Amino acid sequence: MRGIIHRHWIKLGLRFLHLYLNQENLTKKLVEAGYDEIAIFYDTYWTDYMAYLTVDMLKKLDPLKGGNCLDLTCGTGFLTHALYDMTHGKVTGVDASKAMISIAQKKYGDKCQFIHNDAYDFLKNQPPRSYDCITCAWGLGYGTPQILAQFRRLLRQNGKVGIIDNSMFSNWEFVLFFLAAIAEEPVALNYYIIPHFFLSKGTLVQRMRMNGLRIIDAWKGKKTFTFENKEMAIEQLLNSGVAAGIVQLIDKDRKDNIARRIGELLERHHMPSRYIPVTHRYIAVVAEKNKKHNYPKR
Ligand SMILES: C[S@@+](CC[C@H](N)C(=O)[O-])C[C@H]1O[C@@H](n2cnc3c(N)ncnc32)[C@H](O)[C@@H]1O
Repeated sequence: MRGIIHRHWIKLGLRFLHLYLNQENLTKKLVEAGYDEIAIFYDTYWTDYMAYLTVDMLKKLDPLKGGNCLDLTCGTGFLTHALYDMTHGKVTGVDASKAMISIAQKKYGDKCQFIHNDAYDFLKNQPPRSYDCITCAWGLGYGTPQILAQFRRLLRQNGKVGIIDNSMFSNWEFVLFFLAAIAEEPVALNYYIIPHFFLSKGTLVQRMRMNGLRIIDAWKGKKTFTFENKEMAIEQLLNSGVAAGIVQLIDKDRKDNIARRIGELLERHHMPSRYIPVTHRYIAVVAEKNKKHNYPKR
């Protein structure tokens, strides 16, 4: 492992620095392109396995029946539709990826409204106290932390917010081996991204409190998939959206080579075990806007 990691790190660091100093931050566009690319696979590789965790969050949220609900980073609309099923209220999903939201529109457009927009751009133009419930599943870390600051303004009294997301350490093995593979040919790196995944449940809770919300519940967990070989592990990582935005950083002609190398590193790391594990580590919180709560002065 140490042998894998120490190679070429200085060159990679210099390449990052060069890109950081000479390029604008393209995080939004790269993530959007990533999800556009995998949208047709997303439900098969992610929703079918992970949606039960989103449903757990929704049950704890217990949204107001008949309320006005907003589902940020709605993707293909699983949670947007589940919110509708539970509330029979007005439910709107917002997502930055055209391909993801057009699937949502096709599946659930008869019951929910879908809007193609960046989450923060959408929120900042909404009138105050307009929602009873706001959710964001598996997408907060791609957006700006300013999103959280909008929740209190947009929620009605006793309105609730429910979030579930990958933590910064979700799939750290994949991220580490991606970096190790790219370190072997740093010129293949064309862009950089700056995601904002939370480090831990505690940091998410802290940010919610700082933004004037009372925590009802917070929890964390992990879900591990095991694969018989590296090809299957890489297929899951690429098609589930886990690598969305990351794959877009690499030169198109080098993608296959880098993916193959990540597979080799994963396999070598997990030898002699028979299976290659891929672990998603998540954090979740349900909070409310409560009159009795002492909001921090702004
Ligand atoms: C992992 S998917 C989650 C989809 C859905 N919420 C679910 O539970 O299946 C992440 C979604 O976040 C969207 N996204 C990422 N950054 C965004 C942003 N800044 N504004 C709006 N949507 C964004 C992506 O397009 C993608 O559809």
